[in-house]
Amino acid sequence: MAALIPPHGGRLVDRWLRGPAREEALERAGRMRRVRLDAREAADLEMIGDGALSPLTGFMGEADYRSVLAEMRLAGGLLWALPVTLAVSRDEAEAIREGDEIALEDPAGRLLALMQVSERFLYDREEEALRCYGTADDRHPGVQRLRRQGGVYLGGDVWLVERPPARFPEYQLSPAETRAAIARRGWRTVVGFQTRNPVHRAHEYIQKCALEICDGLLLHPLVGETKADDLPAEVRMRAYEAILSGYFPRERTLLAVFPAAMRYAGPREAVWHAICRKNYGCTHFIVGRDHAGVGNFYGPHDAQRIFERLDPAELGITPLFFEHTFYCRACGAMASPKTCPHGPDERVSLSGTRVREMLYRGEAPPPEFTRPEVARVLMEGVRVRARGPSVET
Ligand code: ADX
Repeated sequence: MAALIPPHGGRLVDRWLRGPAREEALERAGRMRRVRLDAREAADLEMIGDGALSPLTGFMGEADYRSVLAEMRLAGGLLWALPVTLAVSRDEAEAIREGDEIALEDPAGRLLALMQVSERFLYDREEEALRCYGTADDRHPGVQRLRRQGGVYLGGDVWLVERPPARFPEYQLSPAETRAAIARRGWRTVVGFQTRNPVHRAHEYIQKCALEICDGLLLHPLVGETKADDLPAEVRMRAYEAILSGYFPRERTLLAVFPAAMRYAGPREAVWHAICRKNYGCTHFIVGRDHAGVGNFYGPHDAQRIFERLDPAELGITPLFFEHTFYCRACGAMASPKTCPHGPDERVSLSGTRVREMLYRGEAPPPEFTRPEVARVLMEGVRVRARGPSVET
């Protein structure tokens, strides 16, 4: 069997307690102080447990945090793009001592994990915003989150005991399970595709261009928290189901969910996304136009340019860059400015906002932009959403 790409830092982390060790931890947890995580922290926790954030074994301490902000490296020198932190209020922090074991619970109050708190530290919201998002503008969703969250970070190792109820049972593959699926298929090269938006034809085009040069394609929609106006993950997953059998070769495509919350950190998040996908076994990673961007906070190529500063051997996974792609009526095909000589009038290209507006009006986006099978799912998803909060994530 071909050797898969090594995880970041060399070893796939597994922080799950099992058997008697788990039983004993559950019993001890009953006597511990509990800290409730928000959706993003709970998703990060699950990813630490499964090794998606290898080599992290817990929430970051101050040395790692500061080094990541300043140098994009963990304190030990390993490349790492974004903080993975647990924020609590000052009052909560007062009640916890360094060295304490605490129990971590999900937003609904269910026990998830134990944490050995090794550090409590203050941080500067403005600095984190500027370093990670390149802005301290309150309109940026990452900045808004920083302003809302508690003022103290708790750092320390975690041990997981319980998984939150599965939202996508058949698509929930841990990095180890994804690696096993890749090995079973005999793929030597696998390209990962990060996405938070409903699949459209530009997505499909860059996925397939990448698949032309790789053995397999890991479609890896992010299903953690996104900003309120992004379409819910349930609808986006149904859209993939609607086109997979008709348009993608089954033996070369794997659909699985990426549990993370969106940061909207553009360039830094592109690097973070790439490293995470390496942990899932990908050898290549797609970075298209304005990857993980929001509004006009980043230029369309910023998330590609950041990779120029990185040592490819250190990154390990190979980024594949794509220009802004669209359907060109004159070419009668999907294309990009690299491959098409025609002007904007021939090009069918719609912003996410425009597509959402059309869907809310009950209008299907044009077939050159969205496959009709997908448009039907999106229109239904938007209708259900408008009737009530049941599909809100
Ligand atoms: S993202 O926040 O996950 O980046 P989205 O789901 O829209 O948002 O994008 C998924 C991937 O496809 C990203 O790498 C993005 O840069 C790329 N992408 C999206 N639309 C286009 C397009 N029209 N042309 C080229 N790349 C695109």
